[in-house]
This record gives sequence, structure tokens and C-alpha cells, in this order.
Amino acid sequence: MAKKPWGGRFGQPTDKLVEEFTESISFDRRLYRQDIEGSIAHCRVLAEAGIISPDEEGRIIEGLNSILADIEKGRFKFPAELEDIHMAVEQELTTRIGKAGERLHSGRSRNDQVALDLRLWLRNEAGEVTGLIGELKTALVEAADKEMGTVMPGYTHMQKAQPVLLSHYLLAFREMLDRDEDRFRDCLKRINVMPLGSAALAGTGLPLDRKVAARLLDFPAITANSMDAVSDRDFAAEFIFASSLLMMHMSRLCEDLVIWSSGEFGFVEIADSFTTGSSIMPQKKNPDVAELIRGKTGRVYGNLVSLLTVLKGLPMTYNRDLQEDKEPLFDTVDTVKACLAVLSRMLGNVRFAGARMLAEASRGFTTATDLAEYLVRKGVPFRQSHEIIGRLVGYCLAEKKELQSLSLEELKNFNPAFEKDALSVIDPVKSVDSRNVIGGTSRKQVSSAIRKIKGRSGK
Ligand code: ARG
Repeated sequence: MAKKPWGGRFGQPTDKLVEEFTESISFDRRLYRQDIEGSIAHCRVLAEAGIISPDEEGRIIEGLNSILADIEKGRFKFPAELEDIHMAVEQELTTRIGKAGERLHSGRSRNDQVALDLRLWLRNEAGEVTGLIGELKTALVEAADKEMGTVMPGYTHMQKAQPVLLSHYLLAFREMLDRDEDRFRDCLKRINVMPLGSAALAGTGLPLDRKVAARLLDFPAITANSMDAVSDRDFAAEFIFASSLLMMHMSRLCEDLVIWSSGEFGFVEIADSFTTGSSIMPQKKNPDVAELIRGKTGRVYGNLVSLLTVLKGLPMTYNRDLQEDKEPLFDTVDTVKACLAVLSRMLGNVRFAGARMLAEASRGFTTATDLAEYLVRKGVPFRQSHEIIGRLVGYCLAEKKELQSLSLEELKNFNPAFEKDALSVIDPVKSVDSRNVIGGTSRKQVSSAIRKIKGRSGK
């Protein structure tokens, strides 16, 4: 059994069950690179403060780098009895370089060390996530550009409402992702703060220059309160919240794709390569990727609730409960990255059934509001025109007619202000183009939005 670095005051070895129960190395080994990077910086700070000699500094750094190389080559065993990645690396260092290794932990606690590792790791992941969001945004804009002019029925309450451009719909998701990207960037400001020097909770008594550590590790800021620094996981909770919103946005898009790929809708066909079959029903082709993204959203929400719940009752400052921060955070990052990547790819593998969308946009009184607005332009107060068109729709339902099949005489029966040009108002394409306010669905607005976005991203 390995000797514990903290074993001095203990008269008995740790119970095997306790060892298994308390270890985190099975999952925090993932932080090995950040742990070593942080230790190298800490070692430099110790040398600068004269706590270790330049010779010891050199040997520690060399030792840490050799451990890093071995881990990367898969040659390193992660012994469970060493609890966590921090103790495993430190112990191995001492095994490799002897006494100098025992000086590394001066002025440091695992409490500020784990906070550092997590921040280093998460800031890198935040960068990757924003990159992947960028790719999904590009995929949406590409699809919007390609589908420019495709008209579909827009829905409220899952009932046909008004015709819109498919591109307008796609760009709506781009807006959501834009906000998501912003949220991750903003969160990065609070991740990117250097906690070393806080030690266990009170700050170190050794004359360590925290600014040097921050500079070496490329942190723009250092934590201002050592007690806060060792117990703060706001940045992790915030990251999972930003992830939850992002997942919710992806989930809503996926929900539509699932509905639209049904036989009843037939608005999209997802390529065979992005669907799966049924083990019993030979005819089936299922939108499982979209369903899984929708399902995994629940998992990320769960991670948020897990972490918030871990944090809520913690007395100041560090408590071992905080070890439970890692798995929800790791799982969130893995899930979000996988979903972003697969959704971006899937969008390029979806065929939109433009003709069917247009046909459905022409049915179901989607231009009733256009007719009401026509009367408004003729001077009829909107509340009256709403009532008139409501009766007109009732008439169509009774006669089993669509607005498109009405004659001018029929229209005139409902209001004498109707003239020949009223018939063209009923056309879904004209309806779309008439919505030419900023942010509206007209082709003019939407293509200018696409141009603006593409100009901005230099494409
Ligand atoms: N494995 C621990 C964690 O993840 C590291 C910090 C342990 N600190 C301590 N004083 N027991 O939180």
C-alpha cells in the first residue's frame, strides 16, 4: 500500500472501502495536463521566492515533464490508493527525482490546486465549445442561404399561423446560438481567474508572488479572497447553465426536425447516414440523432441541478463535497461538444421538401392576417377587419374552401372594400415579402441578414 502524503498523524491504514469511496482519480485523471502545468508554474514561483534552489527547480520541472510524457504515451498507472490526480503526480515525482519532489507542495494545498486545475481545464473547453457553436452557426447560415426563397408555414401553438421563409426560421436558431456564444465568452471571464496562493483557505504564509503564477499561466486576473477562491465553483455552475440553454436551443431545433420528418409533415428528409432503423419494423427510418440531442438536454439540466445542489449547503470553505463538481462538469462538456458536432454535420444531411412546405403554407388560412391588414389599409379599423375575416374563415370551413379558391364576389360579400388586388394578398410568397420590417421574414430582410452575417464572418 502506498504511503499517504497526508499520513503523518494516522495510526491506521485507510480502510479499503473508504479508499474506494473517496477516490477521484478514476475521473480527475483527466486533469493531468493542467495539474502538471500548474505544478510547473508553482515550482517556478517557489524558486523565485528562494524556497527551492534553481537546481531543484530544474529537476522538478524535468520530472514533471517526464510524467506528462509517460501519461500521454499511456505508460502511467493511476493508483487508486493515491486518491486523486494531484497526489498521484506528486508521489510519482518524488519517486522519480527523490527529495526535491517533496518540496513542490510548499505553499500550496490541494484546495487551491484543484481550483486551478479545473479553471485551466475549463477555460480551454470553453474555447472549444465556442468554436463548435461557431461551426453550427455557419451550418445554419449555409442552409439559410441555400434555401433562400423556400416558403413554409410558421406555427404558433403548433397550429399554422403565417407563411415564413425557411431561411428566416433557420436564422432564428442562429440568433439563439449567438447569444449562447456570448454567454460562454462572458463566463470565461470568471473562469479565467488564478487561485494559486490561496493554499488551504487562508492564503500561504510563504512569500509567493501570485502575479508571477498568473503571468506564467496566462491568467488576466487573480482571485481576491483566499476563502472564496478555494470554495468557489460559480464558474462551473455558470458554464453548465450556459450549456443548458445551448442544449435547450439545440433540442428545440431537433424537436422540429423530428416532427418535420414524420410522414404526416414530410417537411424534411434526413439522410440515411444520419438515421437508424428499427429492429422489428422494416419500413422504419428514425431520427434518432435529433431525439438523442433532445434527450441529452435532460442530462445536462440534471448536471446543473446536481452541482447547484452540491453547492447549496456548504459551510465555508472547502469541503470534500466539492469533489462532486467534476463528473457533472465533465459530462456536460462531453455532451455539449458531441451534440454540437453531430448537429452541425446533420444539418448538411437534411433535405428540405420545399414544394411540400409551400403547399402547406398555402393551406389552412395562413394569409388571413394579410387579408385583415388589406382591409386596414382600406380604412377599416383592425378590430372590425379581424371580425370580418374571422367570419370569412368560418364561411370557408363550412364550404370546405381555402382562401385561395375564393372569388372576388365572395370576398365582396363580406366587405365592399375588397378589390381585385385582394386576391394577390392571399398568396403566401407575397405575404412573406410584405413583412418587410427590420427582423421580418421578407426575402429582402432575410437575404440582407444573410449578407450581413456572411460579410461579418468574412465569407
Ligand atoms: N480530490 C479533491 C477534489 O476533487 C481534491 C482536493 C482535496 N482536498 C482535501 N483537502 N481533501 O476536490
